[in-house]
Amino acid sequence: MKIIKLDVVDSTNTYLKTLSKQSFCQDEMVVWAMKQTAGRGQQGASWQSEFYKNLTFSIYKRIENFSSQKYFSLNIVVSLAVYELLQEMKIESLSLKWPNDILVQQKKICGILIENVLNNQYITETIIGIGLNVNQVHFPNLPQVTSLKNISGNDFELEEILLKLSEKIVKKLSDFPMNFTQKDFEKYEKCLFRKGIPSVFEDDFGNRFMGIIQGVTQLGGLKVLLENDIEKVFSQKEIRLLY
Ligand code: BTN
Repeated sequence: MKIIKLDVVDSTNTYLKTLSKQSFCQDEMVVWAMKQTAGRGQQGASWQSEFYKNLTFSIYKRIENFSSQKYFSLNIVVSLAVYELLQEMKIESLSLKWPNDILVQQKKICGILIENVLNNQYITETIIGIGLNVNQVHFPNLPQVTSLKNISGNDFELEEILLKLSEKIVKKLSDFPMNFTQKDFEKYEKCLFRKGIPSVFEDDFGNRFMGIIQGVTQLGGLKVLLENDIEKVFSQKEIRLLY
């Protein structure tokens, strides 16, 4: 596993995307930045992180025989890798917020941005971007965000976590998608934040409604039981969980 360590970059995902377009990417290459000037989150959001306090890195991976329809199984595998590492670090009250945020005590500790390269309906390359909050203590105007230091009181060695997490992800992806099973899917559903609990959602028009998360579909939609007792499947762009 080759690791490129950069002081400052716009975004580690963008960096790997550019390299891959020029065919300069080695399989399983990791790019780790101390600071991103244009860190990107899901749905066009930005990702902020203090210099050298947190982990911001991306992994490049080639994949064979992976239909783009099943893209969500990749989100599941990566989310579970982060979840399992935090479990091994004895972090409690973990959950996975659909589609792929990792929460501790109901606050976001890790975000994942997966960007895929498609060739004829097949995902052939993927760039997995991870933002894991480690030693940063203050998150101005972000009350629902936390870090490993905030929940444990301890400082952590960034490089140690980077190595453990990237090795875990690369290992899980070495035989992917063949090794992806119903068990992974079930584990993801079991860890789902607010599953079975009445919750408030907002649709893309700003309308609020009540519903109960039932699980996810194989295609990555969120199954919500609505007040009229009808189960509806929502895509990521259609719905936001308020909590
Ligand atoms: C999210 O929760 O919205 C996803 C956040 C992903 C952030 C990481 S930091 C490393 C990589 N480079 C980026 O620009 N974004 C991802």
